[in-house]
Amino acid sequence: MKSNKALIQLEKELSLQISNVVPVTLCDTLIRHYEERVGDKDDALVSDSIIKECTPYLSQEPLVSLLNAYFNNGYQVLSSAFDAIRFDDMSYISKTWHLDHGVKRSLKLFIYLNSVAEHQGNTLLIDQNRTGLLRSFGALPLEMDARKDDITAEMRELGISNETLGYDLKAGDVLLFSPFELAHRCLLPRLGKTRYTVCFTLMPT
Ligand SMILES: [Fe+2]
Repeated sequence: MKSNKALIQLEKELSLQISNVVPVTLCDTLIRHYEERVGDKDDALVSDSIIKECTPYLSQEPLVSLLNAYFNNGYQVLSSAFDAIRFDDMSYISKTWHLDHGVKRSLKLFIYLNSVAEHQGNTLLIDQNRTGLLRSFGALPLEMDARKDDITAEMRELGISNETLGYDLKAGDVLLFSPFELAHRCLLPRLGKTRYTVCFTLMPT
C-alpha cells in the first residue's frame, strides 16, 4: 500500500495492516528462542531481547514515514511488551471488549510473530461510530470484571450492526489501531496454539 493511501486509511478508519514489516525468518527465530527458554527464571530477559530485536523495524520504510506523517509533531514509545498467549490463558485480560485510556491519537502497534491463520488469535475491532454508541450505552466498562466477551445483545439493543473488523495478519505483519477510539478484544488462540506478539504503545509528543 502506498504511504499516502495508508495514511488516509489510518486517519479515516483508525486502523491499518502493514505487511512484511519484520522478516518471517526473524519471527521464527524469536519464537524458537522464546520456546527454548520459556520457564527459565530469566524469562523477562528473553522478552526484552525479543522487543529489542523488533524495535529497529519501527524505523524502517514504509512504516517510519507513515508514523512521522500521522504523528506530525513526533511520537515516543510509551510502553512495549512481548506476549506469548496460550489457548488456555483464560485470565488474559485483553480478551474482553474494552477501550484503553490515555492520550488521544496514541496508537497501538502489534507485530504478529506468527499468523492469525495459524492460531486464530486475532485482534477484533469495532469502528469509531459504533464504539461511541457502545461507550455511551455502558457496554465498554472500565472495570475489568465488568467487561464482556460478547456484546452482541448490547449491539442489538442499540440497533447497530454486530460486525467486527479483523485483519488477516501474517507473520511479520503490523496491526496499527487507536486503542482509545476503537473498541477491541484479542481472541485467544485455537486449541494447542500460541499467539506471539510484540506490542508498542506510541504516544504523540
Ligand atoms: Fe486494549
